[in-house]
Order: sequence, then C-alpha cells, then structure tokens
Amino acid sequence: MNKFTNQSTIEIIEILAKDFLKLDSQESLVFEVLNPDLCTTIYAGNTLTINSTEYIARGYKSWLDLGQILKSRMLTPEINSEYTVLLRFEKLDDDESFHKSIDDKEEKYGEKSIFSHIHKNEEPAFIHYYLQALKNVNITKRTRILNLGVNSGDEFEAIINSTAEIENLEFIGIDYCSSAIQKAKEKFSAHKNISFHTHDINDLVSLNLGEFDLIISIGTLQSSNLEFNALLMSIVQNQLKRDGAMILGFPNCRWVDGEMVYGARVKNYPFSEMGLLYKDVIFCKKYLQQKKFRVTITGKEYIFLTATSIRKD
Ligand SMILES: C[S@@+](CC[C@H](N)C(=O)[O-])C[C@H]1O[C@@H](n2cnc3c(N)ncnc32)[C@H](O)[C@@H]1O
Repeated sequence: MNKFTNQSTIEIIEILAKDFLKLDSQESLVFEVLNPDLCTTIYAGNTLTINSTEYIARGYKSWLDLGQILKSRMLTPEINSEYTVLLRFEKLDDDESFHKSIDDKEEKYGEKSIFSHIHKNEEPAFIHYYLQALKNVNITKRTRILNLGVNSGDEFEAIINSTAEIENLEFIGIDYCSSAIQKAKEKFSAHKNISFHTHDINDLVSLNLGEFDLIISIGTLQSSNLEFNALLMSIVQNQLKRDGAMILGFPNCRWVDGEMVYGARVKNYPFSEMGLLYKDVIFCKKYLQQKKFRVTITGKEYIFLTATSIRKD
C-alpha cells in the first residue's frame, strides 16, 4: 500500500494513475496520507513536520479533485493512526453512462433510459446555481414560463418547491420524448397551470404558443439535431417578450456510473474539451446583449447564462 508523506502532487498522480490502470472498474485503491483534519487552515503544498516526518498538507477538496481526475469516486476514509488516514478511491465504470445508451433519438432521454435515474435537483452544484438564476430573473414576476427540452419536468419542480406563489404563473413544457412528457403530465396532474406538449423544438412556431416572460432551456439547445445559433435567434425573436428573461443551462459535465463528472466532452477528444461550450455561451451572450439584455454567466458542472431585459421602452 502506498504511503504519501512529502511527495508532490505530480509524483502522486503518476503513481496512482499507474496503479489504476491495473484495476477493473469498481475495484478500489487504498493509500495512506496525512489526516486532512490536521491541516484545515493550511493551503495545499505547505509542509508540516510531525514526529520528525515531513508531510505536505492537502485538504479533502484536493483529494476529491484528484479522485475525479483519476476517474474514480472517493469512498469513506478510515482513520489509520493518530496523524494519518486511509483514502479509498473506487474506479468508475466508464461504460455505465447514458451518453452511450439507446439509439432511438427521441427515447434517448425517455422513461427507460439511464438519464431517467438522474436527479439534477439533488446535485448542489446544479441546484444552487439554478435557484440563483431563478432569483436573478425575479421568477414570481414572470407570468408565462416556457421550458424547451423539459423532459419530466425537474426544472419546474424546483420552481414549485422554492417559490411561495405559483398559482398565477403559467408553465408550458416542450419535449419530443413522449415517455418523458407522459411522466411529467402525471407528476404535475394536480397543477392546472402547468401543461406539456410532445413536440419538436425545430417546429415551435406551429404550436402557436405566443410570447413568454421567461424561457428556460437546460442541456438541450446544443443537441446535435438542433442548429444552435439559428434556434437561439428564432426563440428570442418569436417566443420571448421584449422585456422577458432567459435561463440557459449548458452541461459542463458527464454522467458516469452514478457520478456527475466535471468537464464537457466532445467527439474526437479523450479528455474534457470546453471549446464548443465557450463558443455557444459567448454567442448567446453577445446576441442577447445586442438585443438589450443584461447577461450573467455562472455555475460549474452546469454553466448558467441568465439574461434579463434592460429595455426602458
Ligand atoms: C439532456 S436532456 C435535458 C433535459 C432536462 N432539461 C434536464 O436538464 O434534465 C435534453 C432534452 O431535450 C430533448 N430534446 C432534444 N432535442 C429535441 C427536439 N428537437 N425537440 C424537442 N425536444 C428535444 C430530449 O428529449 C431531452 O429530454
């Protein structure tokens, strides 16, 4: 078993990466390090000498980051001695990902998909920034709300659970996945002010829905069947009120083997590459600014672009 005292992070990564190569998914690596509770106020990299052994300090955040970089999850550490703990990292199963599942494009995100087991609202790194964006757009003042790519309605659920008065708001959700829309209809059947349509976003105009005070779209507009720039401009011109607001969520993560793993992935790169994410976010920002919206960009595993109108007329 490895024991790390004053080895640098470069050395540790090299050693652990080699050890992980020998493991199958769901097998664990165990190694001994200085108990992070003994160095809570010390930045990583500073040294501590205990009983004439020199240790490099690192907090749990550093070890968690390392675990994710090595495509593993951290399990509960064990106290090993007065000054050290055993850290345990379990290798993730990279094949256990909805990104690789179901060929039928409409049902890729349906009731039977791995995606239906994902509950983003329970991920602090998602819900915190989403709630912040809702606050930013002053949600209770937005009477008509449209969600594009609503799936089974998690984003509406978060609004209902965090907002005092929703009776006067009208919610409409669109998705071409019929099993997800069926689930959403059942979930919100008690709410007469929430409705759903199984429909293709490429053909929004035929639904004749009118204009909205708030348009939300999370993890959808970058789908390969949609033309991002043209669609965004069309939504702003045809479905958004002049004094309306938008919340757009861009995934900067992958869902793998029960974990939300940081970093967008694109075809032809074996590592996280965020060029497309930045390009699309900046296109939206510039376009919406031209149309007289104030735009903020926040978030981490999901990047949230929030736009509110600054028109005075
Ligand atoms: C990654 S999921 C995101 C769902 C939900 N907003 C969330 O973040 O959990 C993308 C959703 O967009 C839907 N979608 C993709 N392309 C669509 C299209 N052309 N028309 C309607 N829905 C579409 C999918 O069915 C899926 O439910």
